[in-house]
Amino acid sequence: MFGSSTQHIPASTDVPQHIAIIMDGNGRWAKKRFMPRIAGHKRGVEMVREVIKACVSRNVKYLTLFAFSSENWRRPEEEVNLLMDLFHFALKHEVGKLHKNQVRLKVIGDLSRFDPKLVQMIHASEKMTADNPGLTLTIAANYGGRWDMLQAVSKMLQHRPELAGQEITEAQFTSYLSMHYAPEPDLFIRTGGEQRISNFLLWQLAYSEFYFTPTLWPDFDAAALDMAIASFQQRERRFGRTSEQLHHAT
Ligand code: IPE
Ligand code: IPE
Ligand code: MG
Repeated sequence: MFGSSTQHIPASTDVPQHIAIIMDGNGRWAKKRFMPRIAGHKRGVEMVREVIKACVSRNVKYLTLFAFSSENWRRPEEEVNLLMDLFHFALKHEVGKLHKNQVRLKVIGDLSRFDPKLVQMIHASEKMTADNPGLTLTIAANYGGRWDMLQAVSKMLQHRPELAGQEITEAQFTSYLSMHYAPEPDLFIRTGGEQRISNFLLWQLAYSEFYFTPTLWPDFDAAALDMAIASFQQRERRFGRTSEQLHHAT
């Protein structure tokens, strides 16, 4: 279990321990090039590879990527189907390499709407990489922050019915969130220029540093990641305290 930023002040780190990214802008990247949107998503997968590599070499311990939101089902059926195929293809071709590089893969989200074959592959990939000591890579697929909190409450009351009507602690609740195995993100990045959370990690972003960039995801390379990390390093994370308190702390 990891500490909560609202219960205890987290230790400060130079390099963010956990980076969470909304990878946005694939469609616009393709449109600018008169290409179909799926071409942007394909290029996006290549950037995922590059950013994973960069995180490993910079000693980031957790990387969480928003791949498909619970609201993305509202897209045209053709795009949804192509995205599912791409996810399947990427898993099939990348997991071996991830495993070789000691990456532990996790997938969070409501998998019940996915093709059973894809779900099977997700579980097999998680199992294969479960004991890897390197980067923990989480892919959020059919994920929504509200879904996560609701499923956590349901599961908690199912496992511990005696808690109904009692005061619930943060620790009790967060142990049922789908990313219970990771600390809260230190740095939240959204590419593509929008400045919104789009129902991503609503609970865990409570004290994360936010970084928004107009760079479209298919252009977000290791140098762009370094700029985000450099921005993070300039921040004063006060967690409710005054700046003076921070400077006088020993
Ligand atoms: C993000 O890129 C990828 C997914 C949501 C799957 P978009 O597809 O949202 O790209 P834009 O925002 O239309 O450019
Ligand atoms: C957020 O991007 C979800 C992912 C990147 C997977 P969207 O492009 O779906 O977000 P909105 O709809 O513009 O807020
Ligand atoms: Mg978008």
